[in-house]
Amino acid sequence: MLPDRTLRDDVYRRPLATALERIGVAEGWCCVDVGAGGGDVSVALAEVVGRAGRIYSVDIDPHARDEVASRAAAFSQVLAITQAGEDLLLPEEVDLAFCRFLLMHVDDPVAVLARMRKAVRPDGYVVAQEPITSAGRVGGVAMSFDGAINQDVGAELPDLMIRAGLDLVDCWAESQAWAGPGPVAGYLAHLTGVDPGNDPVVLPPLVTAVGRARKD
Ligand SMILES: C[S@@+](CC[C@H](N)C(=O)[O-])C[C@H]1O[C@@H](n2cnc3c(N)ncnc32)[C@H](O)[C@@H]1O
Repeated sequence: MLPDRTLRDDVYRRPLATALERIGVAEGWCCVDVGAGGGDVSVALAEVVGRAGRIYSVDIDPHARDEVASRAAAFSQVLAITQAGEDLLLPEEVDLAFCRFLLMHVDDPVAVLARMRKAVRPDGYVVAQEPITSAGRVGGVAMSFDGAINQDVGAELPDLMIRAGLDLVDCWAESQAWAGPGPVAGYLAHLTGVDPGNDPVVLPPLVTAVGRARKD
C-alpha cells in the first residue's frame, strides 16, 4: 500500500497512486523520473522504493537537480542528473522509467519514449502521464495552455507509446472536478494566476499509458 502522505498535496495524486499500484512498484526498485522538475514524482517513487531502491531524477534544467535531490534523498538513494530526455543514458538498467507533464514540452515525444524504453530492463515498465488540456473546463469554457508545445499530447499517448516500440499494457484517463474553494481551485489559481471563484472546474484529464519494454 502506498503511503498517503506521499501524494497528499498533489491534485494529480490519484492518477500517480493508481499507476504505481497497478504496476506494483515495490521496495528495492530502481526507477528514473524524466523531466522531474520540482520532484513530486521522484519523491513519491523514493518513498515507495525506500533505502534499498534507487531513483534517477533527470531534468534538462540544472536548477531542478538540487531541489529534487534534497527532497527525495530523505527516503531513498537519489541521483539527480542534468540531461535531456532525448539523450537519456543511465549507468544501469532500471525497472521503471516514468514521466509526467514532460512530453507536452518536447518536440519529439516518440524519441524521448524510445530512450526511456532503452533505459529499462527487459520487461521493465515505461509509464507516461500527460494531459489533454483543452478537455479541461472552467465555468464550462475549454482550458488552454500556451506554454506547451503540444497541450493535448495526452490524446496521442497510446499511439506514441506504440511508435516508440513499447507493448501497451494499460491506458486510462483521470481528472478531478470541483466547485468553490479547495485544492482543485487552488491548483488552477497556482497554474493560471486566476482564482475561479465558485465556477465549476474540471481539471485537464491526465492520460496514463503503461508500456513494457520487450527485449528479445
Ligand atoms: C511541467 S514540469 C513537470 C515536472 C514533474 N514531472 C511533475 O509532474 O511535477 C516539466 C519539466 O520537464 C523539464 N523538461 C523540459 N524539456 C525537457 C527535456 N527535453 N528533457 C528533460 N527534461 C525536460 C523541464 O525543465 C521541467 O522541469
